[in-house]
Amino acid sequence: MTERGLFVTFEGVDGSGKSTQMRRLAGALRARGEHVVETVEPGGTAVGAQIRAILLDPANTALGARAELLLYFAARAQNVDEILEPAIARGAIVLSDRWTDSTLTYQGWGRGLGEDVVQDLDEIACRGRKPGLTIWVDVGVDTALARAGARNEAEANTATRMDSQQREFYLRVIEGYRALAAREPQRVRRIDGAGSEDEVFQRVWTVFQTWRGQNV
Ligand code: TYD
Repeated sequence: MTERGLFVTFEGVDGSGKSTQMRRLAGALRARGEHVVETVEPGGTAVGAQIRAILLDPANTALGARAELLLYFAARAQNVDEILEPAIARGAIVLSDRWTDSTLTYQGWGRGLGEDVVQDLDEIACRGRKPGLTIWVDVGVDTALARAGARNEAEANTATRMDSQQREFYLRVIEGYRALAAREPQRVRRIDGAGSEDEVFQRVWTVFQTWRGQNV
């Protein structure tokens, strides 16, 4: 089997800077003449973008945890068929901003649905396709909250209650990433997200190049 494409994902809590780093990696690879396809979860396809709008609409307070879980995988199944598999077949380097590890950490660990149900749905949605490399940009809970939650500051009481809930949620998510990195050290590489954009990108580049050197 001569499958030439590569599948690399970026993971981390909200505000970790992973999206910026992924864009930089895409740019650096394109500058070297590589064929790069970027995608994002949830979203990535036209159908996925509609699902994303449901998932991220704060007005959807009635959306339950199981329905949310299935919607993430509905968007991903569409992505697999429409973007990921065709791009891999063409030999592209596919970079995805989040993938199933986000569902493992946010829904499995954060919402407490557990990993098993997420793994089962991944089999259905992704048909065995897994990322070859996952770059986890780790920033710690305080940085994540400071970057992602600054807008809540005006409403003092609500913000305090929200912050402590959010803090515990993010702590569980980060614990999930840590567990994944410990369990699959070959695939999931932790990168320290502290420092300037350039400093972090140097780490990303080193990890990517090292991994690629081992996988050609
Ligand atoms: P987004 O605005 O794309 O945030 P970010 O730039 O941090 O990725 O929103 C994605 C949100 O959806 C983010 O809070 C993580 C969450 N999410 C899940 O809970 N489960 C998933 O499977 C995915 C892909 C994302």
